[in-house]
Amino acid sequence: MRTIQNVQAMRAWSREARKEGARIALVPTMGGLHAGHLSLVEIARRHADRVVASVFVNPTQFDRDDDFAGYPRDLARDQRLLAEAGIDVVFAPKPAAVYPEGAVTFVDVEDLSVLLCGAHRPGHFRGVATVVTKLFTIIEPDVGVFGEKDYQQLAIIRRLVRDLCLAVEIVGAPIVREADGLAMSSRNTHLDTPGRAAAVCLSRALLAAETLVADGEHDGATIEAAARAAIEAEPLAKLEYASLVDAEALVPVTTMIDRGVLALAVWVGKTRLIDNQMLVAKAASAERRSA
Ligand code: PAJ
Repeated sequence: MRTIQNVQAMRAWSREARKEGARIALVPTMGGLHAGHLSLVEIARRHADRVVASVFVNPTQFDRDDDFAGYPRDLARDQRLLAEAGIDVVFAPKPAAVYPEGAVTFVDVEDLSVLLCGAHRPGHFRGVATVVTKLFTIIEPDVGVFGEKDYQQLAIIRRLVRDLCLAVEIVGAPIVREADGLAMSSRNTHLDTPGRAAAVCLSRALLAAETLVADGEHDGATIEAAARAAIEAEPLAKLEYASLVDAEALVPVTTMIDRGVLALAVWVGKTRLIDNQMLVAKAASAERRSA
């Protein structure tokens, strides 16, 4: 496994691999790797001959300085995990290589970026869309693998690929969870013991909503209220939003006809956690079973 820090060297490696007829997959990460990231690598290996993982804590997507400063950084550990996972190249550039002095060009996926998390984290998705576009132009992968854990991010990346006519296929990967249901996240390491116990309220809230929908509930507000109640029952948790939205447009769903995504953002102490679940209406899921 090679580690490349330089943009030109990364591009040269990709072009050489492509000349040999290899299909290249990219798994973009910010490091602090866990089993969720490694599941993306596994999926990437199924879609390509060579897999590149990027490890880059992208400054432009952080809306709080303390979050950026405290983000877990341990490249040696990440390299070890990626080598074990069978990666070909780790691309770990320095910020100055990705953002040349005085860079003023950004990618903004306008409508999707202001909803859900975008409403609470100004500029966040502009930073994500910009860095992912840069990674795509440097590495020129055939496939990019992204987790459904960051559902809105995945929707934005699909949209930017379509809007900018990029030649990369986007593959979504299911959420990997801890045994108690907590979605894996690099930020989980910030939770203390009571916070870690409290954090399970997110998956509990999603399960409450899912149960309600399985019983035939279609009303968006009622479904959201069930999730909200599960978060509010946890004294250490503070709800930022619980929203049932359309799976593509991410706009609110008032009555669930077919399916919707319930998206959550919750603060546990100083740690912001997100989670989501696709909900399928009872009639729609019965139809799907009989089809
Ligand atoms: P990061 O938070 O490191 O996540 C990297 C990728 O791993 C994302 O596609 C994310 O959705 C996926 N992921 C994280 N936790 C997961 C889990 N529990 N199950 C499945 N997939 C999971 O997302 C980013 O970095 C950045 O915004 C990035 C796309 C790299 C741009 O800077």
